[in-house]
Amino acid sequence: MKKIILTALMAMSVAGYSHAEGNAEAGKAKAVMCGACHGPDGNSAAPNFPKLAGQGEKYLLKQMQNIKNGDRNVLEMTGLLNASSDQDLADIAAFFASQTGTVGYADKDKVEKGQKIYRAGIADRGIAACAGCHSPTGEGNEPAGFPKLGGQHAAYTAKQLKDFRDSKRANDPNSMMRDNAYTLRDDEIDAVSQYIQGLH
Ligand code: HEC
Ligand code: HEC
Repeated sequence: MKKIILTALMAMSVAGYSHAEGNAEAGKAKAVMCGACHGPDGNSAAPNFPKLAGQGEKYLLKQMQNIKNGDRNVLEMTGLLNASSDQDLADIAAFFASQTGTVGYADKDKVEKGQKIYRAGIADRGIAACAGCHSPTGEGNEPAGFPKLGGQHAAYTAKQLKDFRDSKRANDPNSMMRDNAYTLRDDEIDAVSQYIQGLH
């Protein structure tokens, strides 16, 4: 009897573990319908569709939850995640996180200006260095859930920065992005987004 209870407890704890953790293999099949826009491996071709390949797992999961419950408005994905369970989303996050992200090229006329903002921020306007949270190489910070930026399409990055600036995107914890973006000018957004596209 003791042995049966122990076995049952072990089975329960294994099930509990697998519920919390995403399974990349299972996620691959569940992510097929995402490929049309984001690319089969998460390297999207269109510059307004974000690359998901190699993005942090924790960040990906949070965005999918935010898109599903309406905290982040993505028109193109309306209703798409309604039938997905928490386990489905965790599996999809694990799959895209396990893929390798491609890197683009930065417009060479904008690199210097973009790099300055990325590495040092704009001190006299209280804009913090992007590198402080997103890392100098653009890898992000997985334990903190700060997204990877390096290699992302400049058009997508610029749209996010404008959306944070104008509070159209407001799912950043403690206004971390809105506080840094609200005085950014379009030319500064353009330059830093170009720099990020080539960053790795
Ligand atoms: C019809 C096109 C389309 C399809 C299909 C689609 N997406 Fe998206 N997705 C988008 C667009 C466009 C955005 C970015 C919108 C914006 O500008 O904020 C986005 C954003 C995201 C983001 C946020 C990325 C980031 O860097 O913050 C995640 C995660 C995501 N999609 C996951 C998925 C998953 C998972 C699927 C499949 C279940 C899927 N998408 C299917 C168009 C699509
Ligand atoms: C204090 C930390 C912090 C600083 C400084 C910061 N960010 Fe962020 N950033 C975040 C967090 C956290 C998120 C994710 C918010 C969420 O959960 O949706 C984010 C999201 C983003 C996104 C959206 C990524 C995506 O895939 O959709 C972009 C683009 C971005 N930041 C660019 C920048 C730039 C450029 C700077 C410098 C001007 C900067 N960030 C400074 C913390 C920071």
